[in-house]
Amino acid sequence: MKRGLFITFEGADGCGKTTQLNLLRDYLIDKGYEVIVTREPGGKGLGEKVREILLNYDGVVSDRCESFLFLADRAQNVDIIVNPAVEQGKIVLCDRHTDSTVAYQGYGRGLDIGQINMLNALATKNKKPDLTFVFDVDIDTSMQRVGQNKDRMESAGKDFFNRVRNGYLELAKQEPERIKVVDSTKSIQEVFENVKNIINTYII
Ligand code: TYD
Repeated sequence: MKRGLFITFEGADGCGKTTQLNLLRDYLIDKGYEVIVTREPGGKGLGEKVREILLNYDGVVSDRCESFLFLADRAQNVDIIVNPAVEQGKIVLCDRHTDSTVAYQGYGRGLDIGQINMLNALATKNKKPDLTFVFDVDIDTSMQRVGQNKDRMESAGKDFFNRVRNGYLELAKQEPERIKVVDSTKSIQEVFENVKNIINTYII
């Protein structure tokens, strides 16, 4: 059976990636593809519990502990959801994946990026996404979209999010074949037109 596709959606909080993921899911289903949607942190089952800790735990969480929790959730998502579906020929859309850890824990928190790459490789069995969208938006716009009701990660401050954004742009420069940056300051429909143009070069 033909292998499917693994597509990831990335960007700073409030960039609009989840909206675009849902639009792309509907578009691909309309075209007759079998589509699976998952997310990190928190695909389903155990992942949901890890997500709850990562976003809502109100005690001290060390940066290294935070990284390992994201990575543990990733290993579970890859083994239980992503790989089996891709092997069955499905298209998997994943809301955040390895690049989030490089951007947030590496560029954002300042952990060693070489080590994060190594741990990501371990969590994913060395398998990279076929395609990654980075939805790029300036920090003021993204903070405005997030609003007042912030979770633990979203409360990290403007400097942190500037580092995260620059991290994503840096990653896109390093891997232009895989990572496509989409200007996400435009309207939802305009952004989706760009997403469609890109995806149409990957599907028949
Ligand atoms: P998410 O649910 O995608 O938040 P949003 O949709 O509001 O952007 O992601 C949860 C948070 O977890 C988000 O702030 C980014 C963060 N995160 C990391 O810091 N490292 C990671 O490896 C992942 C997967 C997410």
